Amino acid sequence: MNLQQRVTRKLRRSIGRTPAQQHDPGPSKQNPGATRSEKIAAKAFKSTCYAPTVSMYFDQFGKVRACCQNTGALMGSVTEQSIREIWESPNTLRMRGALEVGDFSEGCGFCEWQVQQGDEAIVFARIFDDHTVTEQHPRWPVQMEFSMTNSCNLQCQMCNGDWSSSIRAHREQRPPLPAVYGDSFFEELAEFLPHLEKVNFLGGEPFLGKEPLRVMAMLAQLPNPPQVAVTTNGTQWSDRIEKICEQLPMSFVLSLDGITAPTYEGIRIGAEFEQVMVNLDRFESYAARHGTKVSLAHCLMRSNWHEFAQFLRFAEDREFQVGINEVVFPVELSLFQMPPDELRQVVNTMERDEGGLAASLATLRPIWEGQLDALRNRLSTLEAGQLQYIRPWGESQEKSETWAEQAVRLLSEWVGGESPARLVIHDPDEDSQVGTGAGESRCEFGERSYYLSRLGLEEANTPEQLITKLCDQLGSEVPRHETASDLIHDLVIGDAPATDSRQFRIAWSTSESATTAFLAVRNPPEPPVLPENPKAVLEDWCGADQVIVLNCDRDEQILSSSGRLAVIEVERATDLIGLNTQEVLSRLVKGHGAMTVSPGPSGFIADSLVSFTQEDSSQSLQLRVIVERLDEAVLVYIGSQEMGQS
Ligand SMILES: C[S@@+](CC[C@H](N)C(=O)[O-])C[C@H]1O[C@@H](n2cnc3c(N)ncnc32)[C@H](O)[C@@H]1O
Ligand code: SF4
Ligand code: SF4
Repeated sequence: MNLQQRVTRKLRRSIGRTPAQQHDPGPSKQNPGATRSEKIAAKAFKSTCYAPTVSMYFDQFGKVRACCQNTGALMGSVTEQSIREIWESPNTLRMRGALEVGDFSEGCGFCEWQVQQGDEAIVFARIFDDHTVTEQHPRWPVQMEFSMTNSCNLQCQMCNGDWSSSIRAHREQRPPLPAVYGDSFFEELAEFLPHLEKVNFLGGEPFLGKEPLRVMAMLAQLPNPPQVAVTTNGTQWSDRIEKICEQLPMSFVLSLDGITAPTYEGIRIGAEFEQVMVNLDRFESYAARHGTKVSLAHCLMRSNWHEFAQFLRFAEDREFQVGINEVVFPVELSLFQMPPDELRQVVNTMERDEGGLAASLATLRPIWEGQLDALRNRLSTLEAGQLQYIRPWGESQEKSETWAEQAVRLLSEWVGGESPARLVIHDPDEDSQVGTGAGESRCEFGERSYYLSRLGLEEANTPEQLITKLCDQLGSEVPRHETASDLIHDLVIGDAPATDSRQFRIAWSTSESATTAFLAVRNPPEPPVLPENPKAVLEDWCGADQVIVLNCDRDEQILSSSGRLAVIEVERATDLIGLNTQEVLSRLVKGHGAMTVSPGPSGFIADSLVSFTQEDSSQSLQLRVIVERLDEAVLVYIGSQEMGQS
């Protein structure tokens, strides 16, 4: 099985895929027409995304997140916490802090993927730019989004049973979801509603769920209700719905995934195209009467891309705004998961269309161009053989550990309990761009130091360079890409673990100033053994009269010593007693200048070369230090050589 098949199989196994929720793409109240960076510059503080500062998204399991795309990190859960506790939870504060420094590791893999792919212009996070942001930790959210149930009458091709009760019962034969929003939730919610600027009702089908209808009734009682938008499949229009809409002015986002009956009905299974078009007319005339809006949501995917231009032409003729759901899952429907040769054909056909119907578009032309550009970007990523990050759409899980804790835990479990190496790398170009100053890369290789420290990883400036170095170790035929967990970047590099072949696993996260990576290795080469007689080894290396032995307790406090101590700047052996070996090193740094440490020639983990270089001196000192750990004692052997400086 090749890598692509392995990734696909793994992704198919993850059943809880989360559809993107299409939001009302209404005009910006604040500074309409401004660019994203202009909007951010005008805010009380800068952030990559304001979602966790302004909004709460309540899902059908009672989990609360910053937005519907953030599946990796939770603000909290209504089954265990009050709304107030969730809004002020450590998780929420951590997510805000991370996004303020451009760190996507708090579950923001989708936006990170869009940015990395070059699709910043359509990044999902932009929809939170138009809300009022007064401070970093406001007392009230100004937006709430509700996907409180999966009640739905349709079984759309690209949807699943977490979103549609009908799919859950018929296609998946799974038991119904339990109801999680009880009376106490609604009682507390009443305090929050008057502070909201905007409420979005999203999936299942909001007009069929008991809980969303209860929230709509509460909103209708407010003297100044917020703006309300309902994303709907457009199949529902009844006296009951008409009555709610009369009490509470609302905008509609109608999901329309085809513009001909065969395409539409092939996707939206259970819906009738003609009926939905009649309802679209009803929504439109309602909106005209109430001063609200109707817009269209469209899942662009393999089963409908051929009529994308026709769909946009229709929307433009009727003056509907359009939002596109980027379908990444299910894999078999996603344009972004196509093999490159098939995607090339889609892009070529769309490019030919540029001269036809697409050329006639005016207001919706940017939507066409944005999607075509995203597909072109994806194609060039695939054709260049670059890392293809595909987010695993796992079930919503509570995340109580930080990204780094999670990475360390997963990698350590994978390798049988050993702590992974930790690498902090800085991209020098990025440093100069973001003005953080060139930082120093740091590598803590841990137990596998004898092997990992020889791979030249500290020379890498980007995750891609790190991975290339690891691949080089294993040979060019080795598959490079497999998403190993729900972490944003988590790759296993190397052949299947059935054999004793070597594998690396690397998880990393990038913020504005640095990339932190954790690295584990399975089946590394055997560690070199401790020289049986370290003293004799050092005597060979530098001569018998240049070797010092420090006899220490288990905490490396020096108990006694032997040898010519002048080299470590000590006159009498008694001066050393009670010092720690680290203090000896610090004295050396003071006396001999800057210190660099590299692995010693034996390859044994506790055998290192320590070099000191002193400015304005033709001589430099090199020590070779071997540390022997016995049950009750630590013996430190130090050999020294004076070297001429080149
Ligand atoms: C889950 S639906 C809920 C609202 C309503 N039932 C509807 O269909 O409009 C919300 C949005 O997600 C979109 N959607 C469904 N499956 C998707 C998928 N696999 N990827 C991206 N968006 C998806 C729908 O088209 C719809 O616009
Ligand atoms: S960065 Fe994207 S995924 Fe993360 S909270 Fe913002 S909108 Fe959601
Ligand atoms: S109507 Fe909406 S929730 Fe229902 S199956 Fe279709 S996409 Fe899913």
